[in-house]
Amino acid sequence: MGKFVTFEGGEGSGKTTQIKLAADWLRERGIPVLETAEPGGTPLGRKIREILLNRGSCAIGAEAELLLFAADRAQHVRETILPALAEGQWVLCDRFADATLAYQGFGRRLDAAFIRTLNDFSTCSLKPDLTLLFDLPVEAGLERAKKRTAGIKPKAAEDRFEREDKELYKSIRDGRQTQLLLPYFKSFLFHGRIREGYLSLAAEEPERFRIINGAADIETVRREVCHHLTALL
Ligand SMILES: Nc1ncnc2c1ncn2[C@@H]1O[C@H](COP(=O)(O)OP(=O)(O)OP(=O)(O)O)[C@@H](O)[C@H]1O
Ligand SMILES: [Mg+2]
Repeated sequence: MGKFVTFEGGEGSGKTTQIKLAADWLRERGIPVLETAEPGGTPLGRKIREILLNRGSCAIGAEAELLLFAADRAQHVRETILPALAEGQWVLCDRFADATLAYQGFGRRLDAAFIRTLNDFSTCSLKPDLTLLFDLPVEAGLERAKKRTAGIKPKAAEDRFEREDKELYKSIRDGRQTQLLLPYFKSFLFHGRIREGYLSLAAEEPERFRIINGAADIETVRREVCHHLTALL
């Protein structure tokens, strides 16, 4: 059996950056690696991902969202992860079951006991050998995620988003326009609950989780990741 390592953390915490570096590091050591991600690690998963990320005018309630993530995971574990582990590959997965507890449980406040049961069902009770939690203050993560998105967005849209944000920050400083700021605060609180949620999951299972300071520079984070992988070798 190969090892199963999951990469968790809030938006912009560095998961995708580090999973690639970790995969390179393992391959250099002759270890067969499968890099995968949720949602979207199978053909069915990519259709589900499309639904989840490009909602357009299509309403998706929190409960339906939870079940779509679970459907993606059920297929991912059976079609991709378990066969790869059985072949002796190391599977590095960008978000897994903990993300559902953090986002849908702590973030959207759906019933955590039910999510745990659903997670057991969708994962065939598969648990990661190691979970790397990239922890970062909410503002810093959102700022990074926004910068990355700006790089793939048309210039006009980028300018508009940047202007809106500048206005928002100015309003916060001046204590004005609290009505307009409500969505911003809601999103901020949502991401704050996710961060706290992840940290409490890590505290529950300290033998599985390693908390990594995601605010450090990419190379420092990479070295810490490799240090934890070495312990699994
Ligand atoms: N340690 C770091 N220091 C500074 N910038 C970083 C660091 N790690 C990643 N970044 C940059 O921050 C942005 C977000 O990183 P990345 O995509 O790896 O995060 P993520 O956790 O996968 O985010 P998401 O949850 O949105 O998928 C990227 O532009 C990336 O280059
Ligand atoms: Mg990512």
